[in-house]
Amino acid sequence: MRVLLRILLIVTMLFLGIFSLAGDQRIVIGMSQCNLGEPWRVQMNADIRKAAAEHPELTVIFKDAQNDTLKQRAHVEEFISSKVKLLVISPKEAAPLTSPVAEAYRQGIPVIVLDRRVLGTEYTTFIGADNKKIGRAAGQWAARKLANKGKVVELKGLMTSTPGQDRHAGFLEGIKGSGLEVIFEADMKWLEPEARKEMESALAVHKHIDLVYAHNDPGAHGAYLAAKAVGREKEMLFIGIDALPQEGQIYVQQGIFAASFEYPTGGREAVETALRILKGEKVSKEITLRSRVFTPENIKKGGEWLDQTTVR
Ligand code: FRU
Repeated sequence: MRVLLRILLIVTMLFLGIFSLAGDQRIVIGMSQCNLGEPWRVQMNADIRKAAAEHPELTVIFKDAQNDTLKQRAHVEEFISSKVKLLVISPKEAAPLTSPVAEAYRQGIPVIVLDRRVLGTEYTTFIGADNKKIGRAAGQWAARKLANKGKVVELKGLMTSTPGQDRHAGFLEGIKGSGLEVIFEADMKWLEPEARKEMESALAVHKHIDLVYAHNDPGAHGAYLAAKAVGREKEMLFIGIDALPQEGQIYVQQGIFAASFEYPTGGREAVETALRILKGEKVSKEITLRSRVFTPENIKKGGEWLDQTTVR
């Protein structure tokens, strides 16, 4: 009986030992998402979840800051104190998230900054598409489409976030020297209802508008709804950025948008890069994702890569 008990004890201890070893081998990654209000961010989390599921050793803990910068700062601090193995962050705004990110990095937690940037260089790597290039391509596309003449409304993304700044600067570069004129601009903070409200003001003061350039597809759609409500949606073209298959690409197919520029979420690349970092590999400081433009003419063949675009 005693022997049996001893065996049972040994087996139990062995089992517990293996179990805790397996527990130790789990790698916890913290993912700080600035909000989940837009389909694009829901897609980013889904892309991360899907890529991580291919690696059973990974556990990703998601936190949603609900578009609140202070909340996002607190989330990063929580991830630091819980000693995650790596932090992925898509920050709402650049300046206020810089110091918590730098703090994580200084404490030896590798940090992947995804889509929106922080200031300075205290992070491991930045992954995202080139927003300036996308903005420039949108400007050049608009200038050609309108044969170098026309009145433009620009609905900007949150201007304290880097994609908003870069999509604006790039667009101005793209239309430079053309006859396109930005007659109204407003910060719609990436939000469809804000874009709709701003567009109502633009429509009230401007009798004629040729094109709306919105920094994201929800913004372009909000503008379209405002124009449609007053029967003016056929007067102008709407172009946006993101080109999710379930959002922007559908608007292009339906003829609501004249173009949507792809902004890949980078979710899969973030997981792949995280694994490389955790294996001790050196990764480059900037990982730039490619982008396509979708128009009613090219959507059936999967859009056109920006670097190869000969815009008609
Ligand atoms: C979602 C979003 C996207 C946009 C990105 C820029 O919150 O506004 O529509 O492309 O963020 O960071």
